[in-house]
Amino acid sequence: MNSSARRTSLLSLTALLSLAVACGSPDDCRSLDCSQEASDCTLAQTASQAGFWVGAAVPGDVSDPRMEAVVTHFNSITAENAMKWGELAPRVGDYDFGQADALVDFAHANGLRLRGHTLVWGKFPGHGYPAELRDLMAQASEPADLMREILAEHIRTVVGRYAGRVASWDVVNEPLALLGPALELNVFSEALGADYIAEAFHTAHAADPEAMLFLNENLLSYTDAKARAFVELVAGLLDDGVPVHGVGIQAHLFLSVPPPEDFRAYLEELADLGVTVELTEVDVAKAAIRSWEDTERPIFDAQADVYRSLVAACLALPGCRGATFWGIDDEHTWLDSFGLSAADAPNEPLLLDMQLRPKPAYFALRDVIAERIAN
Ligand code: G3I
Repeated sequence: MNSSARRTSLLSLTALLSLAVACGSPDDCRSLDCSQEASDCTLAQTASQAGFWVGAAVPGDVSDPRMEAVVTHFNSITAENAMKWGELAPRVGDYDFGQADALVDFAHANGLRLRGHTLVWGKFPGHGYPAELRDLMAQASEPADLMREILAEHIRTVVGRYAGRVASWDVVNEPLALLGPALELNVFSEALGADYIAEAFHTAHAADPEAMLFLNENLLSYTDAKARAFVELVAGLLDDGVPVHGVGIQAHLFLSVPPPEDFRAYLEELADLGVTVELTEVDVAKAAIRSWEDTERPIFDAQADVYRSLVAACLALPGCRGATFWGIDDEHTWLDSFGLSAADAPNEPLLLDMQLRPKPAYFALRDVIAERIAN
């Protein structure tokens, strides 16, 4: 069996595991029919029966009382911060895997898939990467050689540690500049140019040939120059034989909602390159909902329509396998402390409210995912 088939079978096995946990036991799953609209199934039970991942970004502390709701409502998790380079190793090579190990154990104990996030991210020094990395480059006589060595060692250390236990990795996060088509100028691209991306993927693949390797990007438009540049970047990497198995579209909605037909066409264009597509960091800020419609409808009903339009675009494509929401509940969202959206706090951008109760968007997604079971 070739490695791609093995990866698919591993995913299927994980989906079966999550199905069992989502329903309490395989027998329970067989008794549940989640294919009908307004069933009694949870989002996780419905998604597991549809062979679709629904995930939440989770804190590093598995004793957080909200993790019980994660197991109930989701079949996949992503560490919001705990597995980032700078969080794992405040100093280069000086790792504390305590939280990451606990998250991997938690995921396996509860039949949850875990998305590793993220091996290489050139933002937020001290968090995306060890803050000292920039000083080490400045002091190095051969910065490119030193970066190549440090980067490879980091990826081998982390991916090797969790080989066979982390289903997929965001290998490189946000390779392009926030606005416009250019490569993001960061500590990695300054040392190695665009080559750091391919080198990271090859190193990760060698460390765990079974892991699905993702390139993860945040787009504000799906028709602008940056969106074009990202498709060309993925196509170029694939043409060069770089093991990019999947593409993560973060789908943070800050100020606007992409026209559904543009969003679906973009996901389809990526899937047509032969990669798996996932929505990896979805949240819908208040300003985006207001831009969607300015009627007096309850804002959570409008939010449900926005979520439905995003996930339906993914579900329309066989190659789109999941959607991860960037937080568990409305009480804890990065948007309430982030520039533009902080002014709108509480943004209440997620599927569970501040008391961990499912909102209209939760039920809208459960019902739209249910349609995939029947089809
Ligand atoms: O851990 C420290 C804590 O010790 C300190 O007291 C506190 C106050 O300064 O800061 C804490 O670190 C914060 C960290 O989150 C952990 O909570 C950082 O300041 C803060 O910048 C960091 O923000 C995270 C950000 O990525 C940068 O890592 C957000 O929570 C997280 O939601 C956000 O997620 C990113 C994705 O990884 C990639 N895509 C974009 C998305 C939003 O930026």
